[in-house]
Amino acid sequence: MQINILAIESSCDDTSAAVIQDGEVLSNCVANQEAHRLYGGVVPEVASRAHQANIIPVVDLALKKAGVRKEELHAIGFTKGPGLIGSLMVGVSFAKGMALSLAIPLIEVHHMRAHVLAHFAEAPHPSFPFLCLTVSGGHTQIVRINNYLDMEILGQTIDDAAGEAFDKTGKILGLEYPAGPIIDKLAQQGEAKFAFSEPKIPGLDFSFSGLKTGILYFLKKQVKEQPNFLEEEMPNICASVQDRIVSILMNKLKLAVKQTGIQTVAIAGGVSANSGLRRALQQTGEELGWQTFIPKFEYCTDNAAMIGVTAYYKYLEGQFSDQGVAPVARWNM
Ligand code: KG4
Ligand code: ZN
Repeated sequence: MQINILAIESSCDDTSAAVIQDGEVLSNCVANQEAHRLYGGVVPEVASRAHQANIIPVVDLALKKAGVRKEELHAIGFTKGPGLIGSLMVGVSFAKGMALSLAIPLIEVHHMRAHVLAHFAEAPHPSFPFLCLTVSGGHTQIVRINNYLDMEILGQTIDDAAGEAFDKTGKILGLEYPAGPIIDKLAQQGEAKFAFSEPKIPGLDFSFSGLKTGILYFLKKQVKEQPNFLEEEMPNICASVQDRIVSILMNKLKLAVKQTGIQTVAIAGGVSANSGLRRALQQTGEELGWQTFIPKFEYCTDNAAMIGVTAYYKYLEGQFSDQGVAPVARWNM
């Protein structure tokens, strides 16, 4: 029998729905919310309202694209957390209502675990155990993956996430939200000629808040001496910022490989779309003999396909939720 799963992701500012058949992606639809650009960050209340407006059309589209009728679904997977509570509430409530009306099981999914399992949306798949650097707008973690449902955090950020470092620096530079992709683009026209210091954090943990402050003071000083500094040096500033964020991430990843002896290494999450990080992982992998896994762009940023793939492996293990399930803003892996 084929197992069809509808998946819903609504943890932050994108509403997404996907249909997964036997672990393969049949459709993956994302409605991006443009409204937040104006505010320099995600406004939770605005996000919840947009999810409410988007969720039915996005689910409808995902089913149509997949060629699957709702009566042919076997389960509904949804992001339970972590994320913005109002946003999560829209996806969770929708999933509960739909599962109840179709009399099919519900499967709760952890958003960060799903980012890792996005690597199983398409072949080739990493073999177990592997390491994954998961870098998003809210998290930065090095995870050891023993099996689909068996993961262990080896290190994580003690303050800002890598995506936040991009976004907050972008705000200082006067760029729109989310600034990560904009900095990436500008960096490609620049040269990393400014040196920002690397934080000294022991072990496999990260810190990015000092970098943001360092950049702020550096810019203040430079603009005082050269009022057009920002306009003239923007691509070089972006290249320097990106270079430092990437080197912080890569140095910890190298340490994790050394400590664990695991040489199968993946990246995941929104920041894994970054061209500098993708290049660095590939180059380091070639130099050090690692087997590396870099997701397709559509599986880097938030998407429901990764939720569906995770739900599929939970389905196989019979891990279902009941109608009492509620979203959680903070949720340890
Ligand atoms: O995983 P994601 O879509 O949402 C969360 O779960 O947070 O990650 C969003 C983050 C944002 O901080 C965004 O600026 C960053 O990913 N991002 C990038 C790039 N594309 C998205 N950062 C750097 N370079 C990119 N190309
Ligand atoms: Zn995410």
